[in-house]
Amino acid sequence: MAIRPVLRMGDMHLLRRSDELIYFDTPELHALLADMRDTMNALDGVGLAAPQIGVGLRVVIFGMRHNPRYPDAEPVPDTVLLNPLITPLGDDTEEDWEGCLSVPGMRGMVPRFKNVRYQGCDEYGALIDRTVSGFHARVVQHECDHLDGILYPMRIKNMRLFGFQDVLFPDGKTKITD
Ligand code: NI
Repeated sequence: MAIRPVLRMGDMHLLRRSDELIYFDTPELHALLADMRDTMNALDGVGLAAPQIGVGLRVVIFGMRHNPRYPDAEPVPDTVLLNPLITPLGDDTEEDWEGCLSVPGMRGMVPRFKNVRYQGCDEYGALIDRTVSGFHARVVQHECDHLDGILYPMRIKNMRLFGFQDVLFPDGKTKITD
């Protein structure tokens, strides 16, 4: 398995709609997920979407136990989510800082639905159906946006709240979503 290069904003592959997965539990899918995990862990990411390593399939992974880079964030279970569907529960949104491994060094203030239901399946085809809120909901929305070619800067409402992490947060502590 391998750490793969992460595509950066400006690469056209990040702007495409990814394709639904048809087959589950295949050697190719397990190999893709192993590479995605290796890549995410090597970069201390909270999530990664397949298009970020140049694979145009509707595959995301995310999860976070305690991470010293994000000391204030709530834990999120390690999850493999394929062909996801997100349904907002209510109109409530909240803004918080996000980053992205495809937009290295930057942070922006992004509005997201506060409460969502997400459905999909895992790598074996088992159904996933969860209702989540807060940071967990934010991470899912961020990662699934990648499958539709959307990067978080496209969702920033106030571009004054977009900048370099080390300038915005000289003490090095932020809660982020990449
Ligand atoms: Ni991202």
